[in-house]
Parts: sequence; C-alpha cells; structure tokens
Amino acid sequence: MDRIKITGGERLNGTICVSGAKNATLPLMIASLLSDQTLTLDNVPQLADVNILERLLRHHGVDTAHDGRRPGQDLENGDTLHLSAKNIVDTTAPYELVSKMRASFWVLGPLVARCHRARVSLPGGCAIGTRPVDLYLMVLEKLGAKLDLEDGYVVAEAPGGLVGNRISFPFVSVGATHTALMAAVLARGETVLENAACEPEVQDLGECLIKMGAKIDGLGTPTVTIQGVESLGRARHSVLPDRIETGTYAMAVAMTGGNVLLRGARADLLDAVIPVLKQAGVDLKIENDGIRVTRNGARIQPVKVDTQPYPGFPTDLQAQLMALMTVADGVSEIRETIFENRFMHVQELARFGADISLSGDQATINGVEELTGAPVMATDLRASVSLVIAGLAAEGDTFINRIYHIDRGFERIEQKLSQVGAKIERLAD
Ligand code: EPZ
Repeated sequence: MDRIKITGGERLNGTICVSGAKNATLPLMIASLLSDQTLTLDNVPQLADVNILERLLRHHGVDTAHDGRRPGQDLENGDTLHLSAKNIVDTTAPYELVSKMRASFWVLGPLVARCHRARVSLPGGCAIGTRPVDLYLMVLEKLGAKLDLEDGYVVAEAPGGLVGNRISFPFVSVGATHTALMAAVLARGETVLENAACEPEVQDLGECLIKMGAKIDGLGTPTVTIQGVESLGRARHSVLPDRIETGTYAMAVAMTGGNVLLRGARADLLDAVIPVLKQAGVDLKIENDGIRVTRNGARIQPVKVDTQPYPGFPTDLQAQLMALMTVADGVSEIRETIFENRFMHVQELARFGADISLSGDQATINGVEELTGAPVMATDLRASVSLVIAGLAAEGDTFINRIYHIDRGFERIEQKLSQVGAKIERLAD
C-alpha cells in the first residue's frame, strides 16, 4: 500500500491550481441517469471516487468517455467527461459497488424517477458516524414510491411514476436534497422542498439540471420549488471549483508560512472560512484569477468555531482547521455539529505532539510551539489531509499510511504541494 513521506519545515510559495469539486462532480455524474441524451461535464477531477462512481454508472448502462488532459497540459485543466444513459440496462445498484462509496446510494432517486423502479444496496458504515439513510427514503415515499427492504437492499417502486409533493426536512442533509432534486425533476406536478441544503454543490447540481431542461426555483435557499417535466435533454456543464480543496491548501500555507496563489479558487464559496483564517492571522486577498494566501512571521492565533451547514463553517474543513490550531498561540475550541464521530484525526495529531482534549462534540486545542514528524495513519478523507498539513509544518519526517483515503478526494496532492516547495513524495510499497 502506498505511503506519503513528508519532510516538514518548508515554506510554500507559488501557485496551486484548484480542481473541480469532488462533491459536485459525484451528483452531477449521477444526474446523467435522468436523460437518454448526453451530459458533458467539464473540469472533472481525476479522483478515485470519480472512478468508483463511473464503474457503477456503467453497470447501469451509462456510456462514459473521458477527454483526458493531453501530455504537458496544465493541472488546472480538468477532464471532460461525457455520460450517455441512452438505455438503462440494470436498475440494481449492487452491494460490491455501493459499499465502496456512500454517495453511490444517490442513484436511487434518478433511477426511480426515470425507470419507476430501483434496487439499491444500503451503503456501508463510515468512519465519520452512523450516517443513516432515513431522509432519502422519506423523500422517495413522499414522492409516491413504495419502499421495501430486502436482503440489505432498498427496493423502490413507483409503477405510475413519481408525483410531486411538499417535503420538509427535519434537518439539513446534502445527500437527501440531491436525491429530492433528482427525483422531483421527473415527478408529475410540483414539489416544494423546505429546509433544503444550500451547499454550493447542491446549487451546481440544480443549475446543471436546469440546463438539461428541469424547472427549479429557489436554488441556494432553504425553499426550493420544482415543476416536474416529462423528460430531460442534452447539456454541458462545468464543475465548480472545490471549496474544500481551496480551504485545505489555504490552511497548509497558513501552517507553513509563505505566499501561494490558489488559482481558480472562488472566495464567495468560502464566506465562513475566510474570516476564521483572517482571525487566525492569515492574509487572504482576492485576485482576478483566485485567492492569494500569505502568512509571514507571527504565530497563528487561536479561534473558536462550530461546524454548520452552508453557509456556516464546513465540517469537511474541521480536521484541517484543527491541525492548524495545534500550533496556535493559545487555546482554540472546535465543535463538530454535523457528524457525531468526526474526530478520528485527534489521536493521530497527538502523535505529532499536539495537545487536544475531547468532550462530546467539542475539541479543545492547546496550541504548542512546534510539532514533530511521526508515522501516522489516514482514517477518512478529510482527517487524512489534516495529517498532511501537520506533516508539512512538523520538524522532521512524517510517514502517512493508508493514503487511499486521500486519493479519494484530493487530486495529485503530492504534485500540487511539491510544486510550491513542499518536500512530499509518494512511496510505493
Ligand atoms: C455530504 O455528505 C458530503 N458528501 C460530505 O463530504 C459532507 O461532509 C456532508 O455532505 C456535509 O456537508 C458528498 O457530497 C459526497 P448529509 P452527506 O446528508 O450528503 C445525517 C467528504 O469528506 N443524515 O448532509 O452524506 C448524517 O448522518 C464527505 O467529502 C441522517 O441522519 O451528508 C449527518 O449527521 C464526507 N439521515 C447529517 O445528516 C439521512 O438520511 C448531514 O449529512 C441522511 C443524513
């Protein structure tokens, strides 16, 4: 299994190109199931999760083709992916494919909407919490599907097609909102979503569906109205830049010091993150082609942050912020309100010499002067990258094991970081 070796202590200087967002790419790819015509996605990142989902979509009968980057082409150009679901040949999403990635479960909504039936394996457990699927099932039931649970599979049937309804979410769920959007666009009549997720990735999906011919109002607000249409057509859409990757590299620069342009980054997607970094003493400037992150001299200042649904501080940047706060000049507090067990990185950060105590959903971080490199283990995607950030600033060598977690969501991380001066390499075992 590959490992990453980092020799810490180098300042980062130069340019990092931000990739297309993983968490927008996945639902956008799934949206291809809704139409018998081609959906073309630009700015698609090369990630393990994209490959996993592509396999599942091909299993359903989707033809996929990549216009990859040509040799010598810059990292800032993502792939173009053509997805053509002319014929859905299989409405079963098998355990072997769904268990590899939770977002695979999202095929349920579009399959039922278009084929009026689907059999989708329940997703497996996950290191960041129990993550049930009750809201997804509630969405389909509200839209008139009959649901059964058979041998670990959800079987959904709506022989006459789905019918629009009012769906009020008890709390914000990104995946349940994706499911509702993709199911309701082909349902008969009007669907109103209340307390819908406002995440930019949900908006990106909605905008792509509109290009395909869907009728959706209120995207990016908690109340979204969808008028069902008979069918959807061909469309071309460019995936929005990855705000989590942007925030991650901004925190890396904050940790090591230096001056890096995050090319292609959109500051408007990071409204809750930028003030936190500024409070920590990081300089962020919006430029024509991205965000410039600079930190010189003074130590990081402590912060107090709660994770929240968008537009609040994202849970997907919680681990990275915690890594940064391990070297702050004082005590920071971070509360995780979205997932109940998203602190797997705490014990690994302790291996660098970090001083963190946990009480329920709250972490208290006593900043230390310096971290020391250590062998550590990646546990989930964002936790893993927090170890990379810590390793970049730590004195000496860090070895990160189980890096397949990082490859799920960070495109060519070692290449991007070494281009700005980090000493980071992948060791094949
Ligand atoms: C999406 O997951 C993201 N995944 C996650 O990113 C992200 O952390 C999360 O949204 C929150 O922003 C993708 O986009 C592929 P939720 P999702 O439904 O949709 C509970 C990463 O690292 N819940 O908004 O699965 C759930 O357990 C990943 O890139 C139910 O109780 O998250 C959680 O506590 C990790 N019942 C809360 O809702 C349900 O039926 C919010 O989860 C569904 C969710």
